[in-house]
Amino acid sequence: MGRGKIVYVCSECGYEARKWMGRCPGCGGWTTMVEERINRAVPSGTTGSRPPGEPASLNEVEPHAAMRLPTNIAELDRVLGGGIVPGTVILVGGDPGIGKSTLLLQAAIRLVSAGCNVLYVTGEESLQQIKMRADRLCSSGTTLLVLAETEYDRIATVIAKYNPRVVIIDSIQTVMKSELGSVPGSVVQIREVTASLVQLAKTREVSFFIVGHVTKEGTLAGPRLLEHMVDCVLYFEGDRYQSFRILRGVKNRFGATNEIGIFSMGQSGLDEVQNPSALFMNQRPLNMAGSTVVPIIEGTRPLLVEIQGLVTPSYFGGAPRRTTTGLDYNRVAIIIAVLEKRTGLQLSNCDIFVNVVGGVKIMEPAADLGVGLSIASSFKDRPLLKQMMMVGEIGLTGEIRPVNRIEERLKEGAKMGFSCCLLPQGNICGNNISHIKGLEKDLKLKGVSTLAEAIELAIA
Ligand code: TYD
Ligand code: MG
Repeated sequence: MGRGKIVYVCSECGYEARKWMGRCPGCGGWTTMVEERINRAVPSGTTGSRPPGEPASLNEVEPHAAMRLPTNIAELDRVLGGGIVPGTVILVGGDPGIGKSTLLLQAAIRLVSAGCNVLYVTGEESLQQIKMRADRLCSSGTTLLVLAETEYDRIATVIAKYNPRVVIIDSIQTVMKSELGSVPGSVVQIREVTASLVQLAKTREVSFFIVGHVTKEGTLAGPRLLEHMVDCVLYFEGDRYQSFRILRGVKNRFGATNEIGIFSMGQSGLDEVQNPSALFMNQRPLNMAGSTVVPIIEGTRPLLVEIQGLVTPSYFGGAPRRTTTGLDYNRVAIIIAVLEKRTGLQLSNCDIFVNVVGGVKIMEPAADLGVGLSIASSFKDRPLLKQMMMVGEIGLTGEIRPVNRIEERLKEGAKMGFSCCLLPQGNICGNNISHIKGLEKDLKLKGVSTLAEAIELAIA
């Protein structure tokens, strides 16, 4: 590609074309093509000793000398897969005010006290504001390097001079390259700045945390491409009016993506939540119809969450309303259909609302039984036993299918003081349950093979 050539690039998928088009041939988006002047330098090879363009035999490639760098915030390290991999770019997205700057400042301070050289670049706040936040975190005496700067070249110069191991960019939308001409936060700026940061990370072995704003739809502002360019994408979520926050890994080139980290926002910053099940359980209404407790597996750990169902007559005719939060809508629709057909509940003229409490999102079908019973319990207006939890996948014929990792789920329930668990008969018959017999003293196990049987047992 020649120097200074004009191309049209899709802001969603990065498709490039010579002419402007109303509709992107790559992703089908309308009016997403933006004009760009391409002035690309050919990136030099990042393999170090080898000439660019030469392949290497894998057994000759040197392994990474420095392994992961722990941030010493256990919940953050868990989501990262055990710490920061040197030379990677980690994007942290989230709503304004959720605590991204707080989390990263806390991580920076911990890294500095572990002897790591860290630079915090802010384009949103003044140095005094950072100082005030550090005061609040009771760490204003740290030797963390801070820089209030938005021009990419000057940031790169500072990085070259002070040679930090970890750099925090707060936020990517404020950093710009003035030679590009467009305003900070535009698609071109975000793309070019991120590409340069990725290049810098690989050549200098620095790790970057970059803060990204999210749009109203909840996706990261700027080109979708941003997520493809970086090594790791984390979302920081939670209800702004509640204290707890969930850090979720959605992409990780060096670890699992289904991990979550749980924090609570307090007077002096974010605290790691050691026992998240307890956090979700202590707000639970007791003896209320529609509330059930399910042991789910999030990443590598079990977690007890509450599911709430509400069934009300639908007065206005037309299609009844069905709303879900934290659950797959279609999955819930299937469970409602099974309840109707296999257990005889008349739900066709009822509005049904199902929520997972605490902002948790449940992906696994093991929560099906909890969803089914919360709907049935609200419909019949009868609460479940206080100390009962349930787990199981619901099949289309109304059968309850076995779930994986039952042992960990049961242990978490027993730890939290539950005295009874409804679980698939298949899990009891399977030999995997026999060696946790000791559990049965505290936790009574009731095997069920159909949804109707489960309703009979739980909401008689
Ligand atoms: P912030 O990290 O500035 O959010 P973001 O960078 O994602 O926009 O967090 C700001 C919120 O956190 C603000 O509402 C105040 C609150 N907060 C606390 O409750 N306790 C604290 O110790 C700190 C530093 C912030
Ligand atoms: Mg901020």
